[in-house]
Order: sequence, then structure tokens, then C-alpha cells
Amino acid sequence: MNLLLFITVFLLPPLVATLEKHSPLESVPRKHVLLHGVKAHRFHQEGVLNYTSMLLMEDLGLLVLGAREAVFALDLHDISKGKASVRWEAMGDPVRNCLVTKAEVLCKNYIMVLHRIDAHRIYVCGTYAFRPKCVNMTYVDGKLTLEQKVEDGTRKGPIDPDKRSASILVDDKLYSATFKDFHGKQASFCRSGICNTENRLFNDPTFVSMSFVPESQNSPNGDDDKIYLFFSEEAVECKCNSNLLASRVARVCKGDQGGNRVLQKKWTSFLKARIDCPVQKNQWSNVIEGSYLLCDPQQQWQNCVFYAIFRPQQDTDGPSAVCGYSLSDISRVFSEGNYKTEKWITSIFSAWHPYDEKVPSPRPGACITNTDREQGINDTRDQNPDTHEFVKRTFLMDEAIQPIGGKPLLLRRGATFNHIIVTQTTAADGQKYNVMFVSTEDGTVLKSVNYNGEIFTIEEMQIFQPGVPIRTLTFSSITNQLYAGSHSGVAQIPLASCDRSSSCVDCVLSRDPHCGWDKSSGKCVALTDSTRQLIQSVRDGNANLCPNTQDSIQTTEQSTWSGGNLKLRCPLTSNLATVSWERDNHPLKLSDRLQQLDDGLLILNASGTDSGQYKCLSVERSKTGQFSTSVARFNVKITARTDSGMMAAIQGLGVVVALLACLIGLLFWTIYKQQQFPSGTSKKKDSKGRGQVSELH
Ligand SMILES: *[C@@H]1O[C@H](CO)[C@@H](O)[C@H](O)[C@H]1NC(C)=O
Ligand SMILES: *[C@@H]1O[C@H](CO)[C@@H](O)[C@H](O)[C@H]1NC(C)=O
Ligand SMILES: *[C@@H]1O[C@H](CO)[C@@H](O)[C@H](O)[C@H]1NC(C)=O
Ligand SMILES: *[C@@H]1O[C@H](CO)[C@@H](O)[C@H](O)[C@H]1NC(C)=O
Repeated sequence: MNLLLFITVFLLPPLVATLEKHSPLESVPRKHVLLHGVKAHRFHQEGVLNYTSMLLMEDLGLLVLGAREAVFALDLHDISKGKASVRWEAMGDPVRNCLVTKAEVLCKNYIMVLHRIDAHRIYVCGTYAFRPKCVNMTYVDGKLTLEQKVEDGTRKGPIDPDKRSASILVDDKLYSATFKDFHGKQASFCRSGICNTENRLFNDPTFVSMSFVPESQNSPNGDDDKIYLFFSEEAVECKCNSNLLASRVARVCKGDQGGNRVLQKKWTSFLKARIDCPVQKNQWSNVIEGSYLLCDPQQQWQNCVFYAIFRPQQDTDGPSAVCGYSLSDISRVFSEGNYKTEKWITSIFSAWHPYDEKVPSPRPGACITNTDREQGINDTRDQNPDTHEFVKRTFLMDEAIQPIGGKPLLLRRGATFNHIIVTQTTAADGQKYNVMFVSTEDGTVLKSVNYNGEIFTIEEMQIFQPGVPIRTLTFSSITNQLYAGSHSGVAQIPLASCDRSSSCVDCVLSRDPHCGWDKSSGKCVALTDSTRQLIQSVRDGNANLCPNTQDSIQTTEQSTWSGGNLKLRCPLTSNLATVSWERDNHPLKLSDRLQQLDDGLLILNASGTDSGQYKCLSVERSKTGQFSTSVARFNVKITARTDSGMMAAIQGLGVVVALLACLIGLLFWTIYKQQQFPSGTSKKKDSKGRGQVSELH
């Protein structure tokens, strides 16, 4: 009892305190789903590790998976069903040269780039023992085949499996941000033919992601399409002492052909800006880790939103964050904002300032537009060399890009965020909502919905063992499934598991736009699986809509002796609920002897007055009110100590008698055996033992 007292008195208050410390932005997941509670299809091939790249081929019903020295084609509907695979191992000189300086495990071919070329072909790049190579792969007649021609993958795919790179295939051209050297120092950003490496576009960067935006569509001024690159790098412009990183977005024009006299075969349209996701007004508290571009196909590109995730920098206790950026805000900073420039104060010291001199025309970094074309400038090579001279040195924007609403959408302490995807779904109210899935370094995925700026986190699911980082994340709107890759394997889970809610109140309070309560079947079901009218209230969590039902929970008998302790278990399914106890239909008064735990009630030093009917209720608030549901009911009996003491004494005596009888029996048996086989048994055992040993060898 003293131990229990210790636990309740000293360990519970800190738990309560940590919950209180959450800022309002810190979204506590309503449910935590443990690994065994996640219904997943899984794939893992014996001996193959590092499942770090994925490509969906929905029309063929395939999920293509890049791993260490192998590519797999899996059934999109059930990834545990492999359809085809092909091995691509690093061999020969590259491996021998690699082994001189690198660990053996790194001198392999890590498949990290997969891009679709056409109906049946995929462009694949592997690190190939630090000599990256790329090849076209076909999927024909249910077989994956690497084509004969293998090309040098330098500046196309990553060289080092531990360093991130980013690439995208647009109009048959590969845009890639990689490192081109063994040591990962020389960053390059290339498109076949146009490449910037020596020109200092980056300062020790970590590449994060790349996206394509078709901005030429319906453009009134004949603007070009853009490629956006997200990365982090040394914060050169920050007047700070420590080595802080800056989060950046950069963009180039699809039609950039490089300069003529200046910037020949180099980007003339590369501009970059800082991207902020300020936590408590501190812009430098975190650094970008991933991004996802969400565009509503029924709307203009200006309404697209980049969702980006940030991890804490330096202060490792800080929260991870999600911020949203409107593409029109990003676009405005690049097309209208001022530039930032480095001024040398002495030959060693410099400082960054807004550019305050005359900017050449056409605007440095701008794409070719109708105005240029009217002047006979069809191509960046025809542009004014002064413009190129300017942009060769000045390509950082002065203004930083601020998130929608000026602050993060979501903050969370604990496991670091590493990937994000966002899907759009139509709820029962006919409105579209954005659902975010954020993976962490701890093998979990959070599911959060954006209700017009209010973020509600439905659940955090443990997809892989705790501590196993998720390395790649994607989803299919055809199968409504999420696919996550880790070093050890791949998992597929549904976007929604409505059956985790067993009551109408739980189903409605989960505020999951994918789920609703079906009155007639008495189940929480997916909207897509039902044609019936379902009960749902995603904005308000109005569980008053639920039909009144008799609670059908079973009564459990529990008893202890007077003076004993008893725990009545009542685990709540919602982290947002509080528990409330009743005894004989009256609220229970808690005391030193009657203590409420996270998962139940503790009765210490019980007495006869503790007998009765106990009921445990889960009480959860939503915008429309407070809802209670019965979770468990107990019939508690406390038996008087005297009786129980006697009982124990009688039982104890019984045990002693039985033990004595056994001992006597054993004694007799031993004597009897000894007389029957004086010595033979041990010899037999010996020969048998030796036989087994030699068989093993
Ligand atoms: C892959 O296919 C594309 C498109 O047909 C072609 O342009 C490219 O040269 C091929 N690459 C290799 C390495 O064979
Ligand atoms: C630009 O394109 C137009 C129409 O295609 C053409 O008439 C003109 O000669 C081109 N100008 C240059 C400088 O190439
Ligand atoms: C590959 O997977 C193993 C096993 O989880 C992991 O220890 C290792 O860091 C991974 N290697 C790379 C280069 O990602
Ligand atoms: C248990 O309760 C009885 C009275 O019901 C009291 O006399 C006794 O001191 C209590 N024991 C402990 C260890 O608190």
C-alpha cells in the first residue's frame, strides 16, 4: 500500500503538470493508438533494409518501393502482396574505391529516386557506392526490368545515403538538388543542361523537397511555370553568434535557359527567401524538415498552400511545428519584394542589408513574360546582361515569408516531425476540409484536421516500433490508404479507422470528417462506405445528435477484505476526457483513501462503508457542451477482516498439510526406484546425450 501511495502522491502530479503546460496551439491527440491497435498491411523482404523511396502508379494498381539494392512493385490495395522485384547491386570499382574511406554498409546501392517517365517506365537513381547511377526501369507483363543503358547519376540522384536530396521530373526534365562530391560539401541544383554549382547559391544546405506549380495557366501576363525548392542552410544574414540554420524556399522558372555573356548555362531566375514558422515570436527557434503542396484542382494556383513541418533547432526540448503558406504570399515576395545584399565593412566583416540602389530592368530573377516577348525577348538568354550581373550576386530576398495567420497551425513537443502529407476530404456537411498526416522520428503518424484555422488532432498512431523513424510517407486517394516506409519495412494503413469508436458519442466527438455514426447498424463507419445519412458534427462535436441509448455495460464483481486495497480499472479512450466516479448513483467524494488514477480508482485500507455499486464515466467537452458516457460498472463487496483472517489461517494450514504429504510421497518413490534400477539409468542418459550432440555437428 505504501508503494501505491508513493506512486499516486509523487508520480501523478508531474503528469498533470505536463498536461497543463501545453500552450493552446499544442494539440493533444484525442486518441493514442498503440502498435497492436493499428490495422496495417505490412511489407518487408528478408535481408533487405532501408525502404526510403516510394512511387504510386495508381493506374496500374502499384506501389513502387526503393530500398537498399532492390526495387519492389507491390499491390497498392494490399502491400503485403509483392508483385515483382528487381535487384540492383553496387559492384566492381565503385565499391572498391568506396571501401577505402567509407564503411562497408554505405558502399551499397541505396535506391532513393523514383520518377515516372511514361505508362510503363520509371527513372531510378541509386547511390551506387558513392558513384550515383540512374537507369530506366520498365514494368511490363508483371515484371520489373532495368534497361541496359545506365547513366552517370552525379547531380541527378544523391551520392550519400545519409544526406537528403530533392528532385522532380517535369516535362521529361529532371530538376535535382544534390551534392556532387564524396564529402557532401558541393551542393548543386540542376536541370539537364542548366546547373549551378560553383556559383554560391547555397551555404551548407540540407535539401528538403521540391514542387512544381503550373503558374503559366491562365496567367494574364504570360508568366512561366515554377519549380520551388525547400531547404535549410547556414543563416548567413543572421547577426547571431551561434551557427543557426535558416529555412528557405527558392524558385526558378521552368523556361530558364541560362544567360548569354553572364551566367551561361546557369540559373538566371534563382531567387530564395527565408521562410518563418515563429514559435512565440522567435523566427530562429526551428528549421524546416518537410513540405507538401496542396492544390484544389477546382481553384487557381494562387490558392495552393504549402504545408511545411519544422523541427526545433538547438533547443531540443522545443516543439515541432506545422505552418501553412499561401502560394500567392510566396509569389508576391519573389515578384515584388526587395532584395538583400551583403555589404563589406572591412575586408573580413560584412553585414546584410536591404538593397537600396537602382535595380536593373527587367527585374532580376523574373521569368519571361508577355512584356518581354513584346520587346522581342523570348528567352532568358536575350535578357539584359546587367540583370544577370545583378542576380549573379543578389538572389536572397529581404522579406521573410510569413505563415498564414502569422503563427504555426500546430505545435507538438516530443517526437520530432519528419514528413507531412495533406489530403482534402468532403465531410457530411458538404464542406471540404484539409486533413494532415504528420510522421515522426518515433514511428508514429498524427492525424489532424484544419477546421478553418482551428486544428484538431484526431489521433496519433504508432505505425512502427517506438524509436523507428518513418523515412517516407505517401497516400492514394484511389485506395484511401496511407503508405509509410522505414528502414525496416513498409506499412499501409487506412486514412480512417472509424471502427475505433464503439459508441455514437465517441464517433461524433472524434470529429473525423471521414467517419459518421450509422444509426441503423449502430456502428461508426466511413463516409465512403455508406449511402445512408450518418451522424457527424466535425466543426462542433455536437454529440446531442446521438440517439439516447441505455448503456449496456456489464457489471464486474470486485471484493477485498476490510483493510485491503482495491483498484477498479477504467481506462478512458479519449485523452481529452476526464473521468468521474459515482457510488450508488451519487458522485463519489475522493479522499486520501479513495484516489483517482489515470486509468481507474484506488481504494486504500478498505472498510465496510466502501461497499456498493461503482460507476465510472468518461466526461468530454466539446463546443456544444459536456458529454458523459459510462465506461465501467463494479459491484464492490468488502468482507470483514476477522472472517478473512480465519479463512487465511485455514487455507494456510491446508497448504502445509499438502506439502508434507508430497514430501513423504517423494521419499517413498525415491526409495522404490533405487531398488528397481541400481545403476543403469545414468549410463543410458549418457549415450543418448552424446548422440544428440554429434547429430548437431
Ligand atoms: C530514359 O528514357 C527517357 C525517355 O524515353 C530517355 O530520354 C532517357 O535517355 C532514358 N534514360 C536512360 C538512362 O536510358
Ligand atoms: C521571338 O519569337 C517571335 C515569335 O515566335 C519571333 O517572331 C521573334 O523573331 C523571336 N525573337 C527573337 C529575338 O528570337
Ligand atoms: C539502413 O537501415 C539500418 C537498419 O535500420 C539503419 O541502421 C541504417 O542507418 C540505414 N542506413 C541508411 C544509410 O539509411
Ligand atoms: C485503516 O483504517 C482503520 C480504521 O478504519 C484505521 O484504524 C487504521 O489506522 C488505518 N490503517 C492505515 C494503515 O492507515
